[in-house]
Amino acid sequence: MMEMNSESEFAVLKVGGKEIKLPVVVGTEGEKAFDIAQLRKETGYVSLDQSLTNTAVCYSSITFIDGEKGILRYRGIPIEELVKTEAFVKVAYLLVHGTLPDEEQGRLFSRLLNKNSLLHEDMRHFFDHFPRGAHPMHILSTMINALAAFYPNVDLLSMDEDIELSTARLISMVRTMAAMAYKKSIGEPVVYPRHDLSYCANFLNMMFDSPVAPYTICPEAVRILNILLILHADHEQNCSTTTVRTIGSAQVNLYATISAGISALSGPLHGGANQEVVEMLRHIQENGDVKKYVDQVKDKKNTQRLMGFGHRVYKTFDPRAKIIKKECHDFLRKMNISDPLLDVALEVEDVALHDDYFISRHLYPNVDFYSGIVYRALGIPENMFTVMFALARLPGWIAHWKEMIGANTKIVRPRQVYIGKRLGEK
Ligand code: CMC
Repeated sequence: MMEMNSESEFAVLKVGGKEIKLPVVVGTEGEKAFDIAQLRKETGYVSLDQSLTNTAVCYSSITFIDGEKGILRYRGIPIEELVKTEAFVKVAYLLVHGTLPDEEQGRLFSRLLNKNSLLHEDMRHFFDHFPRGAHPMHILSTMINALAAFYPNVDLLSMDEDIELSTARLISMVRTMAAMAYKKSIGEPVVYPRHDLSYCANFLNMMFDSPVAPYTICPEAVRILNILLILHADHEQNCSTTTVRTIGSAQVNLYATISAGISALSGPLHGGANQEVVEMLRHIQENGDVKKYVDQVKDKKNTQRLMGFGHRVYKTFDPRAKIIKKECHDFLRKMNISDPLLDVALEVEDVALHDDYFISRHLYPNVDFYSGIVYRALGIPENMFTVMFALARLPGWIAHWKEMIGANTKIVRPRQVYIGKRLGEK
């Protein structure tokens, strides 16, 4: 899996009259890192890397990204292949277990998902006490934290069996919770999951079926939802996954750990961007001037950003954005939907991609630039967009948590450079 190349390659650091060798670690795709674990012990220095822009925090074999070439693979399989052939639950299995399930494993996993799709009835009443206008992400993180009170934590000694069950419980119940939160918010009776429906069809049915207007499941809608969930299922050490790994390293209850991941995801610079993109496109449409808006986000006096553009890792097109852009066009055409926001999005993209500010900073559309337009076309309300991201990202968080626990990771505890007052200083 991983090659320690300390014999042939190392970095030499000269500091404080000392010279130390930092071993070079090489990943399976050729990525190189200096191992600085002994730095402080040997020199008294720590490394400083604010916001961890240049620090690998773990070894991982789940997801590979090449940000310069626009490559994304789960467990070695290109994302382009997975969206063509697989169902989201199989990709979830792949991320958590390392391989796609065979027929028997797939059947057992589906059965476990079905068995765990119902929410404890006592939890249903929790929904009644949130204020009407509460953001569904806040409801979701609270509800998932509450799961810790209803179900025991994963026993780290009999982990495999417990993880299988907790994974199914989370993936299945969070879908039920998301749909319930929506139904409650519009004052309609909740719709229970059905055993005869696939994961995505079940979700759409729970969202849109009603006693007065039965929902007809549309295969095209199921297909594109499946693609969106796969595209968001993991993205290595992003902010929410790092949150999950960090909190999990203190051996916090798994449900509480996932709840923290959801809170991290809700931020507008992370998962919350999909909702902000649609709000931004609507604002541009109402004000009618793409160029003016793009000029505003370039102005450093302005904190506004072009939402759905830029990425910490991708310095070229986000491969997920490429897929979803095409799928978005095809879906809208097949469903005979005309969304003026798609035209605004295309115009914004065109202006930005020809603007030196964006070119010189390697800022391209990310996955969220188009996902909101698809969710709109599916009839999913804007305040649920980030919940959809959370639903999709669950397998990734669980896979990383499992990998971190399995590697006996020490509690995450970074250092700092103190710049406050000295003793007695006024
Ligand atoms: N609009 C305008 N300028 C931008 C943008 C943007 N969307 N993104 C980055 N920049 C500029 C930034 O101002 C900086 O300029 P300068 O060098 O002159 O100071 C330069 O580009 C580098 O930006 P950065 O802030 O150092 O980049 P980062 O890696 O810290 O931030 C990001 C990555 C995704 C937070 C950022 O690009 C951003 O805020 N994008 C908009 C929000 C968004 O779409 N988020 C979804 C990300 S994809 C889904 C997910 O993984 O959650």
